[in-house]
Amino acid sequence: MFTNIAEISKTKKGISNLKKFSIISYGCQMNVSDSEVVASILENIGYSYSDDLNNSDLILLNTCSIREKAELTVRKKLESINSIKKNNKNLKVGVLGCMAERLKDKFLIEEKIVDLVVGPDAYRDIPNLLKEIEDGNDAVNVLLSKEETYADINPSRFNTNGINAFVSITRGCDNMCTFCIVPFTRGRERSRDPKTILNEINELVENGYKEITLLGQNVDSYLWYGGGLKKDYIKASKIQKQTSINFSKLLELVAKSFPNTRIRFTTSNPQDMDDDVLYTMAKYSNICNHIHLPVQSGSDEILNKMNRKHTVFEYLNLIKKIKRILPDCSISQDMITGFPDETEDDHLATLNLMDNVKYDFGFMFKYSERPGTLAARKLNDNVPEEIKKRRLSEIIDLQLKHSFENLSKYVGKKVEVLIEKESKKSDNHWAGRNPQNIIVVFPKKNFLRGEYATVKIINHTSTTLIGEVIIA
Ligand code: 5AD
Ligand code: SF4
Repeated sequence: MFTNIAEISKTKKGISNLKKFSIISYGCQMNVSDSEVVASILENIGYSYSDDLNNSDLILLNTCSIREKAELTVRKKLESINSIKKNNKNLKVGVLGCMAERLKDKFLIEEKIVDLVVGPDAYRDIPNLLKEIEDGNDAVNVLLSKEETYADINPSRFNTNGINAFVSITRGCDNMCTFCIVPFTRGRERSRDPKTILNEINELVENGYKEITLLGQNVDSYLWYGGGLKKDYIKASKIQKQTSINFSKLLELVAKSFPNTRIRFTTSNPQDMDDDVLYTMAKYSNICNHIHLPVQSGSDEILNKMNRKHTVFEYLNLIKKIKRILPDCSISQDMITGFPDETEDDHLATLNLMDNVKYDFGFMFKYSERPGTLAARKLNDNVPEEIKKRRLSEIIDLQLKHSFENLSKYVGKKVEVLIEKESKKSDNHWAGRNPQNIIVVFPKKNFLRGEYATVKIINHTSTTLIGEVIIA
């Protein structure tokens, strides 16, 4: 569910005498979604948004720790914010999210570069922490929770296009992949009450939103049995178990309740994706046919060292099932190259798996050792940087080849596009996505943003479909 580092500044003009705050989100969609929760909490105590860092009273960075590079980007931003602070002595700076959780009070006590440190489960405490700052006290809360899902907070969608929205359904992760910092920074897995999920979507739909993405580190593992950690389900009563709601049931509830809304979800973990999810996708045409199914490596040895709970054979069986039940479903991947002890044969196995699946697109990364993870403690980061780089570029090249081939199959066909924005390259063209999550660009004609268009594909690149004939 993590994408490349995105920096998203949020604005809304507020009343000028209100205190102003800015939030910059880094990393995954979950951070974007959490920033909307934080914005809602701050609005409630009288703050208003500003995208002008120079005119803010409070700047918050919602941070990412997934790779070292992500943390370095945040560090650079903190340096530039510190020069703003020199001209505005009243400015307060806060670090939220995964870096806050990982580094705890180091930012505040040792480095003295921020005023506020808040972990992903402690955002409700921000109003109290702001008072602590005013009283001259340290303001740190990095407690992880067994319950917190922010279920009752209506996120403030301040950087919205009014068309697409994220709705979080689970928090945390229990998988403990050996390379991954997320279980340490976001805590144990817990699911959100389906009623609050449906209420949030209902409000979005009433406000004109057309596409909802259900969010979680591992959405297929969603399980509501009245609250509490996923790992404690075993202790639930008989009645709790009988009335529990898993991901396929939730997906069905959402698809049925909002038949005119596009539904997406991310991220799926191969070990938790069951057939019912695929059948539910097949049954409801408003559930988009795209599955993001990270595999990380095509070698069983490496998968084992990563503590991934499936083999290549099992993964390929799941892919076969997806292709059988959902013939026009796109599949995307996350891949890590240069994991400790990865040999040339392991790398070839990854290329081989990619040749087998022919993913529609993917997100590929060099392994980055994260302090405290099992891989950092037990394994040697022993693949030289040059080799990591070369393997990464081979994987990316192969993915681009597959993406290009897969996109060529759309040429001559009609696709349904939800219009999201103007094309970056031409103000005469719209850009949107088809259900398979592929970007489609086509002439604007009389269409409007937020509308659906049927577009005939005439050309393509590795990442974009280009359409011409539009049938209204
Ligand atoms: N190094 C490189 N990539 C990582 N990811 C997670 N942890 C690391 C790491 N330590 C990648 C995985 C995951 C995606 C969100 O980020 O591919 O699926
Ligand atoms: Fe990290 Fe694995 Fe959980 Fe994904 S499933 S967040 S990679 S531990």
